[in-house]
Amino acid sequence: MIQLAPSILSADFARLGEQVEDVTKAGADLIHVDVMDGHFVPNISFGASVMKSLDNLETAPYDVHLMIENPDSYLGDFVTEKTEYITVHQEACKHLHRTIQHIRSYGVGAGVSLNPATPVSSLENILEDVDLVLIMSVNPGFGGQSLIHSTLRKIRKLADIREKNNLKFRIEIDGGVNLKTIPDVAETGVDIIVAGSAVFGAEDLEKRVAELKEYCR
Ligand code: DX5
Ligand code: ZN
Repeated sequence: MIQLAPSILSADFARLGEQVEDVTKAGADLIHVDVMDGHFVPNISFGASVMKSLDNLETAPYDVHLMIENPDSYLGDFVTEKTEYITVHQEACKHLHRTIQHIRSYGVGAGVSLNPATPVSSLENILEDVDLVLIMSVNPGFGGQSLIHSTLRKIRKLADIREKNNLKFRIEIDGGVNLKTIPDVAETGVDIIVAGSAVFGAEDLEKRVAELKEYCR
């Protein structure tokens, strides 16, 4: 089963708790938390305190996506009982292996993400050490962009490498997934699908989660 991870970047922040509880009730498997620093990407979103404001609510586990430089300095801030994965960008880490070990030292899953222009081959020497590979299917920084179709090839390639080498990491896609694009996305071998504007831009959030989950079988 493919898992669905709605991204709160596109939520109504004035009603964040309520909306995250609603999508969880509707079957969201993870809550995707997009953290942007205005340096690694040309936008600023929110920090750990916003995520932690959800800690006492009934929500799916957190899938933290750090689009920030120098992530090592902030990793601990994003660890709560509900943190399932913390993902950093390959392009932001000088010592990626060390950062992955650092994430795992907190007992949470360690993920690495690739921008659309960064090849899968750049991960050759880290794949056996990660729990998750997040393929960006838009250039990171904003919700509501169009999916870059060539990135789907990267997912197929990764799934192939995983199978041939008997590896265990999961594969996630992030950006531009909506009711139109999800049929193609679901065919790639991906394990987790992020959807931001497609979920939180809908009039009925619960109905939209159910519609997207139809493709996640
Ligand atoms: C983009 C973020 C995505 C974003 C996806 O930089 O990493 O998670 O929220 O938004 P949609 O699904 O609207 O493309
Ligand atoms: Zn994201």
